[in-house]
Amino acid sequence: MSESVAFAGESKADRYRELLPQVRGLVEGEPDLVANLANIVAVLRECVTSASWLGFYIMRNGELVLGPFQGKVACVRIAVGRGVCGTAAAEKRTVIVPDVEKFPGHIACDAASRSEIVVPIVRDGIVVGVLDVDSYDLAAFDEDDAAGLAPIAELCGALAW
Ligand code: SME
Repeated sequence: MSESVAFAGESKADRYRELLPQVRGLVEGEPDLVANLANIVAVLRECVTSASWLGFYIMRNGELVLGPFQGKVACVRIAVGRGVCGTAAAEKRTVIVPDVEKFPGHIACDAASRSEIVVPIVRDGIVVGVLDVDSYDLAAFDEDDAAGLAPIAELCGALAW
């Protein structure tokens, strides 16, 4: 695996383009899921500069359970269908929330969080987890983020769950 990561792009799209090969390099040859998710979230933190919190929730016995993350202490368990994470898992789609106060049922792990994007991780058609990214800025995430994070979620889905 490659042990250093760097982003030179100024635009989000440029930075996401730089992300995928670096994530591939990080996980190459390493079978351990937790180690890989931990490194992926660390490289995401370097890439997604507007993020206040980034992390994985892993599906365990029909419930989302906190996985590797970067940021403040977070809620440990989220029911499928609840909050932004549970909605993304239940509906198997990326959910972009420009203003968390306008999302009914949003779960506020950090009261300062203002916007969020959650991307489901699908393996063999089944949601095995989600990637959650929060920001202290309103409307920090858009379709560029959804497009940039989709291949990362796909790569995560191919790991050994
Ligand atoms: N806000 C999320 C909960 C997880 S934290 O943001 C880390 C939600 O509504 O599902």
